Amino acid sequence: MIYTKILGTGSYVPSNIITNKDMEKYVDTSDEWIYSRTGIKERRIVSSQSTLDLAYIAAINAIESSKIDKESIDLLILATVTSDYVFPSVANLLQARLGLEKIMAFDINAACSGFIYAMQLADKMIKSGSFRTALIVGAETLSRLTDWRDRNTCVLFGDGAGAMIISRSLSNGIRDVITASEGDAEKLLYCKNPSIKDPNVNGISMQDHIHMNGTEVFKFASRIMPKTIKQLLKRNNLKIEDVNYIVAHQANMRIIDKSARDLDIDINKMYINIEKYGNTSAASVPIAIDEAVRKGLIKRNDLFITVAFGGGLTWAGALIEY
Ligand code: ACO
Repeated sequence: MIYTKILGTGSYVPSNIITNKDMEKYVDTSDEWIYSRTGIKERRIVSSQSTLDLAYIAAINAIESSKIDKESIDLLILATVTSDYVFPSVANLLQARLGLEKIMAFDINAACSGFIYAMQLADKMIKSGSFRTALIVGAETLSRLTDWRDRNTCVLFGDGAGAMIISRSLSNGIRDVITASEGDAEKLLYCKNPSIKDPNVNGISMQDHIHMNGTEVFKFASRIMPKTIKQLLKRNNLKIEDVNYIVAHQANMRIIDKSARDLDIDINKMYINIEKYGNTSAASVPIAIDEAVRKGLIKRNDLFITVAFGGGLTWAGALIEY
């Protein structure tokens, strides 16, 4: 039986901080409104770095913490909705910058659930026997898709990247992963690609921005996060007390609060960093896992659950022994 295990983690956020007070320069808002409705105090926004730049530093940190030679990586999967080019993928650019061998490298898009989707893919590809060691990354520069005139969305997002090395192992680290989606026919959360170009009509493409029905996405997230955690517990015959820690996607403090209440657990069992970074989409979960590990909140042999939701609509969760 082939098992998989997390060897190490890494993350990186740009140094440029935009506080809630700064946001008042762009839109009619206030620190009080943003903090009380979302739990966000500030976010990191790139000044000149690309998604690749953020992914590269997070990947280097993950490789260092894993104590592996980067040459042993034979699979690279990167989750993003903000790739620098239509093609090549950020994964291909990262492969080149890391100087990795000729390996399979590709991007996936499952919005904020993307990192756990990547984990599911890497886990199954290693367990198939075809791969040994995967670098998985969640990296975003959402600031490029943000409409800085729309107060309903611009206060929520930030930029960053997180990474993880997963390898073939004798111990059962990645115990179970759930990934799912439900096509968003009602357009609750989307950002369009440039439209078809007819040179006679619209010769120049305009980049679209994030559109969101906040109330409906809030209801969906508050339902799906605790439900996914309960599903993972049930199908692994575990109780919430058996799990040391929960690392949830950082989208809104009230969604995390509601999940803790639904699960009847102390909020201290949930990792929270939303006040510093806002919602960094596919980067949110790996940044939070990396911080929790580095702070000693998740230790070797601890059981933890990570869970996310996002545009798609998508959702995902994983039960992991670190
Ligand atoms: N500052 C001040 N007022 C604001 C702001 C702001 N930044 N944003 C909205 N408001 C106003 C609204 O215009 C509205 O005013 P009105 O009543 O006069 O119309 C009022 O505040 C209340 O707005 P609501 O939408 O009811 O506020 P709510 O309490 O629902 O919070 C929020 C809004 C924070 C967006 C919440 O709905 C939410 O977090 N939803 C989920 C978002 C999410 O997780 N998205 C995932 C994206 S992930 C991805 O895949 C990219």
